Amino acid sequence: MKLITRRLVLREFQEDDWPAVLAYQTDPRYLRYYAWTDRTEEEVRAFVQMFLDQQRARPRLKFQLAITLQSTGALIGNCGIRTEATNAYEGDIGYELAPDHWRQGYATEAARAIVDFGFTELGLHRIWAQCLADNAGSVRVLEKLGLQCEGHLRENAYFKGRWWDTLLYGILDREWRARPHAAPAHTIHPGDSNNHGNLLP
Ligand SMILES: CC(C)(COP(=O)(O)OP(=O)(O)OC[C@H]1O[C@@H](n2cnc3c(N)ncnc32)[C@H](O)[C@@H]1OP(=O)(O)O)[C@@H](O)C(=O)NCCC(=O)NCCS
Repeated sequence: MKLITRRLVLREFQEDDWPAVLAYQTDPRYLRYYAWTDRTEEEVRAFVQMFLDQQRARPRLKFQLAITLQSTGALIGNCGIRTEATNAYEGDIGYELAPDHWRQGYATEAARAIVDFGFTELGLHRIWAQCLADNAGSVRVLEKLGLQCEGHLRENAYFKGRWWDTLLYGILDREWRARPHAAPAHTIHPGDSNNHGNLLP
């Protein structure tokens, strides 16, 4: 499966993607809002393997896709939507970008495509996300997509020597449909003959 947006291709992970993920997950800028203090090759290989396993699961409940640049094919992050059961009515999203590509609108572009996929292709009723209250970039991505803050969990995480607050965000299908949107992503399923046609402007 692939989601094609104006500048990005969100595609399935491949086993040989791990070096590109390791390169950005060991960047201190990336690690700031995670409990991890570093990432090893072994951990990142397992991280990518988790996504490969999710691809093969039947029924498939989780869709964590590699974010790549249309212009070069470079892997610059990942973005996904996860459900817990077949015919689930809700799912949660997550995303991460390599720091060298921050603040260019890529996370918003990728997350918009994955939320749209959740509502239109998975038929979800509600999509939610959580992020650390201090993670201003992530909060802004969610708010730009129209998710509403539904909860503020005080000091529910402890790592790197301090307590962290977590925010819960959510949006309903009718709220998503009522929003003005940029061109939707073009979804390509396995077996589609038109594998690179119809790129949206
Ligand atoms: C959070 C993250 C995904 C944002 O990615 P990004 O591609 O830089 O986000 P965008 O370019 O789409 O920016 C979206 C908005 O957030 C703002 N923003 C981005 N980073 C910001 C920051 N550090 N502080 C304040 N605002 C920020 C942008 O200015 C933009 O708002 P605007 O359009 O009003 O100017 C990225 O910083 C990241 O990968 N961080 C590490 C992993 C992580 O925290 N993932 C989320 C876990 S919940």
